[in-house]
Amino acid sequence: MTVHFKEKYRQQFHYSPKEKWMNDPNGLVYFNKEYHLFYQYHPYGTTWGPMHWGHAVSKDLIHWEELPIALSPDEHGAIFSGSAVVDWSNTTGFFEDGPGLVAIFTHADSYPGTERPRQRQSLAYSKDNGRTWITYEGNPVLTDVTITDYRDPKVFWHEETNKWVMVIATGQTVTIYTSKNLKEWLYASTFGAGEGSHDGVWECPDLFSLPVDGDSDTQKWVMLVSIGDNPDFKEGSRTQYFVGDFNGNTFHNDHSKEVVLWLDHGRDNYAGVSWSDIPDTDGRRIYIGWMSNWRYANLVPTKEWRSSMTLPRELALNSTEAGLRIFQSPVAEINTIRGESVVFENEELDGQDPVYYNIPNLSGIEVEFNNLTAESFGLSILNSSEERIIISYDAKKELVFVDRTAAGDDSFSESFAAIQQAPLRLHNGKLNLQIYVDSSSIEVFANSGEVAITSLFFPSGNTNKVCLFSKEGTAEVRQLTLTPLNSIWI
Ligand code: FRU
Repeated sequence: MTVHFKEKYRQQFHYSPKEKWMNDPNGLVYFNKEYHLFYQYHPYGTTWGPMHWGHAVSKDLIHWEELPIALSPDEHGAIFSGSAVVDWSNTTGFFEDGPGLVAIFTHADSYPGTERPRQRQSLAYSKDNGRTWITYEGNPVLTDVTITDYRDPKVFWHEETNKWVMVIATGQTVTIYTSKNLKEWLYASTFGAGEGSHDGVWECPDLFSLPVDGDSDTQKWVMLVSIGDNPDFKEGSRTQYFVGDFNGNTFHNDHSKEVVLWLDHGRDNYAGVSWSDIPDTDGRRIYIGWMSNWRYANLVPTKEWRSSMTLPRELALNSTEAGLRIFQSPVAEINTIRGESVVFENEELDGQDPVYYNIPNLSGIEVEFNNLTAESFGLSILNSSEERIIISYDAKKELVFVDRTAAGDDSFSESFAAIQQAPLRLHNGKLNLQIYVDSSSIEVFANSGEVAITSLFFPSGNTNKVCLFSKEGTAEVRQLTLTPLNSIWI
């Protein structure tokens, strides 16, 4: 008999449903002291299939309780990705007795008598904190027969213009609509022709403002756009973002069109979006992604379950030499699963002998390197079979690497074994890394979250050692903090 949440490779501090297939996070909304996480879910299989919205809730973004399926396929089709909002002032007329939740999602079927996919936008609402849902009798509320890839509506209330705004993926663009009541939508604009990456179909957009360098008086708008898998690019599916301005109708990209900004330089962070209705007193922009890649998501070697989410992350927009960039780090609530840290200081790496420390299977590792003469340096996380995932920095090339080519099982897909890399310039010759190691994933945040690399790996046995090294010269480990992390399931 399977003991759930103890299966081989099962993530211990990342959300996954008890069993079966999951992909994109959907309907992220905070309401009545609960964070809701809905998600693309196939309750009858461990590969992608007719999509439902699975559902979990949390009080702290870390510990989740799985609830019954929220939305199931109906006469308009399967339930693809979408968002949820709190209708505070009953703009929809669904709620006479105080605010409630409205989900805005894509109904997916095919045009009658043809194989041509049909994607239309629909509503469902809940008067009981998301426990039960009523699909709107007027569904679908937004259709366009000329657009085939027409999905993943993300809706938010735009205070300045007093209306709802929807961003939705339309082929390789994002179309913006506005509404007074979530039922009737007006076309506003289309963004994206020739802008950023067009390596694949655009999916799961999000649009929100962030303070610049933490100054709430200076806001910029960020648009996230996920890019679907295309066999021509080894990275598979991934997420880009744009930084600019939004006036309630039109998004303007501040960068020149050819600039491509990747949200995460690892292979396993896709279709991520942010929570709606986080209270102003909190003020954070909190994001979560699906920790997999369409290139091999259906093949990863887990049995009863398939896929988990990334850690929830707080997003910030900070100035760098290259311009404004998204910085990300796990939400502070991660502290609820931290055990007692052990700290080591001023360890010299001599370019010859690596230095080993024991770590528990679930680990937080923080390390700061400085005084570098080495051409490269870093750390490996390994198990008793010497399978290892290697995080390193190449000082000449100014690149951070996460190498999973010898990290365990990669036989299920030719695309899986990979060296992932991100450009990063050091300040005052210092590199700090914040690393979260779960049973089959690693999330690396470099230089206070300026770079994120999220990567799955499938070691045959638990990781239990970290090995620090330098090559062609020396490096100092100014500080190394090793923290055991607790499972969220026990
Ligand atoms: C992104 C995506 C969405 C779609 C959903 C279907 O991963 O392809 O565009 O709505 O997954 O499950």
